[in-house]
Amino acid sequence: MDKKLFTFFPFALWLIYVIFLSATNPEVRWDWEKEEAKPMSFPDGFVWGVATAAHQVEGECTNNWSAWENSTDENNNPRIHNDEKSGIACDHWNRYQDDIQLIKDLGVTSYRFSIEWSKVEPEEGQFDARALEHYKNVCIALKESGIMPVVTLHHFTHPIWFEEKGAFENKENLSYFVRYSERVFDALNEYVGLWCTINEPAVYTYQGYFNGLWPPGKTDPQLTGEVLYNLMEGHVRVYRALKARAGGHVAKIGIVKNIFPFDPYNRWNPLDWMVTRILDNVFNIVALEFLTSGIYNYSMPTMANVKYENPDAVGTLDFIGMNNYSHQRINSHLNPNRFFTIEFYPHEPMTDMNYPIYPEAIYRSIKRVSELGVPIFITENGIADAKDDRRALYIDRYIRAVARSIQEGFDVRGYFYWSLMDNFEWSEGYDMKFGLYKVNFQTQKRRLRDGSRRFIEIVSASKDE
Ligand code: FCB
Repeated sequence: MDKKLFTFFPFALWLIYVIFLSATNPEVRWDWEKEEAKPMSFPDGFVWGVATAAHQVEGECTNNWSAWENSTDENNNPRIHNDEKSGIACDHWNRYQDDIQLIKDLGVTSYRFSIEWSKVEPEEGQFDARALEHYKNVCIALKESGIMPVVTLHHFTHPIWFEEKGAFENKENLSYFVRYSERVFDALNEYVGLWCTINEPAVYTYQGYFNGLWPPGKTDPQLTGEVLYNLMEGHVRVYRALKARAGGHVAKIGIVKNIFPFDPYNRWNPLDWMVTRILDNVFNIVALEFLTSGIYNYSMPTMANVKYENPDAVGTLDFIGMNNYSHQRINSHLNPNRFFTIEFYPHEPMTDMNYPIYPEAIYRSIKRVSELGVPIFITENGIADAKDDRRALYIDRYIRAVARSIQEGFDVRGYFYWSLMDNFEWSEGYDMKFGLYKVNFQTQKRRLRDGSRRFIEIVSASKDE
């Protein structure tokens, strides 16, 4: 009897534990027939837009990323899929006027783009007036077309001199980021509707410092936590600095946070749950918690432990920019060198990136960031779909999920599709086709994809309401 109890007890404990976790962290799944039958509506003034980032579209960048593209790994292998280089990309630097017409043709009223720091300040302390003039002209052309500029100050790239100083590894370097941000702000603030300080700090640090797939190619969990903190601190300092400048008090300034809901591969496996929660914490929660409480607590048992506190972080958001593409499913392993892999079930419908189509993810992510208590803009959402056979469905369902969250009372003010056109997708190179417009990179011709028409329809229907 005692023996039976002895074997039953751990089993019961495990059962209670996984049942509790499963119940408190449901993997939301909706009945899509029902969802599709519901009318979609959006509040007055809802902002529709499209997004790009400088390095991915402008062309001819000399920055940390171009240096990375031209380097090889320790086995002499190229860093980028097919050894591609960003090169002239979409030549958006020269073709922005035509591209603004394409934005206008979609019927949207906003454009999120980023400023290439390496063009504005190619050498330390030497600001290029022509580069600032260029961005000013972009803003003027947008305004003339009735399109609100939304500007990101740091979207993964920066000058080589900044990288050589250790970039965001050193807290002392934040003053360079603040100085550059102030220059850009002074030049463009009269045109800009929303300012995004930093794009996806957790993605930048995870790729560059945890798995080493992006510059500077490091694999150091403790440093990952330190760099993420410095980026968050950078946001706080830039926010405070810009607020103190002329026009700053009315400017709308926020950060862009990517949210991936994390789900365990095996819902019955407590180890999958444990790893899932650790990753959710460092990837999603730590940054959000810092913004609400000023407390930064980055912890990966036996690997990283970074703690800071800065009460000044509280109140540094006029809005939150939220990027979401899908969820991540975590399969844990008892191998300290590879303690998890990201895997999906065979029946999950995939995009061309390693992300399934899972529209409920955007709803779950909105719920998460709503805890910040500030207006939410979906600053990126979109699909890589070279065949263009899933784009219309993806757009329709993800936007339905946004509409449902608004109906349930979440304060979502806008939605930006990623991306206006095909572009250089970081280490994936040019194979990932996120564009509403297909780009022929030989001729630089752009053509609207059929699947993108669903986006145009939704935007135009929301105006007729
Ligand atoms: C996001 C990035 C953006 C683009 C999309 C596909 O993580 O912010 O630049 O690469 O993914």
